[in-house]
Amino acid sequence: VTFDLVLVGFGNVARRFVGLLHERRTILERDHQVSARVVGIVTRRHGQMFSLKGIDAVAVARRVERGESIQPPALSSVEFVRDAARRSATAAHERRLVVVETTTLDIARGEPAIAHVRAALSGGAHVITANKGPAAFAYHALAREANRANRRFLFEGAVMDGIPIFNLVRETLPAVAITGFRGVVNSTTNFMLTAMEQGRSFEDALAEMQARGIAEADPTLDIDGWDAAAKTAALANVLLGARLTPRTVKRQGITPDSRRQALEARAAGRRVKLVARVDRDGRRITASVAPESLPENDLLAGLEGQQNAIIFRTDLLDEIAVVQRGGSLTQTAYALVSDLVTIARENVVSRAVAVRRKTTRAIRRSRS
Ligand code: HSE
Repeated sequence: VTFDLVLVGFGNVARRFVGLLHERRTILERDHQVSARVVGIVTRRHGQMFSLKGIDAVAVARRVERGESIQPPALSSVEFVRDAARRSATAAHERRLVVVETTTLDIARGEPAIAHVRAALSGGAHVITANKGPAAFAYHALAREANRANRRFLFEGAVMDGIPIFNLVRETLPAVAITGFRGVVNSTTNFMLTAMEQGRSFEDALAEMQARGIAEADPTLDIDGWDAAAKTAALANVLLGARLTPRTVKRQGITPDSRRQALEARAAGRRVKLVARVDRDGRRITASVAPESLPENDLLAGLEGQQNAIIFRTDLLDEIAVVQRGGSLTQTAYALVSDLVTIARENVVSRAVAVRRKTTRAIRRSRS
């Protein structure tokens, strides 16, 4: 199957995604029967373009990296998605149209990302996103809309990049209930806490995370715990059926004073980590993000630098820990590649179901 992709946002993640698709095209075609071409790109700062003939996205990425813009914007990003879906009606009908949403996190309402997802689904496109906003603010509504449209809404990259979290639970833990979790889900603050234990300053450690492109465009989202709260809400909504938003997660971030706390904890054989927690008590679900001083033998205390981990509590399998030991742009971009393959697999299944229904109907007709 050749998927037609509409890229909403063309920053570091989306550009690495088109590079990765290109680098892995042989394996994707040979082992997964997936190929893809980009038909639309809409950006906030670099303009927009659409072509049913396909766009050389790798070349456009190079142009954007040189600071050149593509074509002047004519439509808002939401209108662009609607228009692209209309112009791609055939691909949409054939379930080959995918909107790839990689705009930055908006912590007030998760917009315009949520509007992008809605416009895509109502135009018959599947949606994959690395943005935490949609699952953190509107998971249940969007999942329902995707169901009604018979299309997929996937967001593996929203938490721990391409390390499978949502896929792990959905694909490999049937009939297991997740009853809670605790984890370190923000790389910027974990790097800063580790660096400050080694004597580096708060500002210096943050500057390094910004220079490496790991901190959010607005780094207060990392420091004040908003990024972790958004990931916590997304995890709780999807895996525990909670109805949280980042704003209903109890939240405390790190401050320059965390340096003293980290050094004192270290001297006492402990480590300070920004811990996300979700607990279920009957029907009540509580969620928080806050710095905690952990004993050194705690799995979360062992996380260095940008590393992340989540320890899930389950009803049948006790605790399951997933650890991300390396984080990079490639890992985030890979999440989008894996979501695309998930859609391709499910398209095969839904085609098979459609063929079976048609055959059954034909048999019934011939008997009657
Ligand atoms: N700013 C985020 C972090 C990027 O530091 O974890 C990954 O979501």
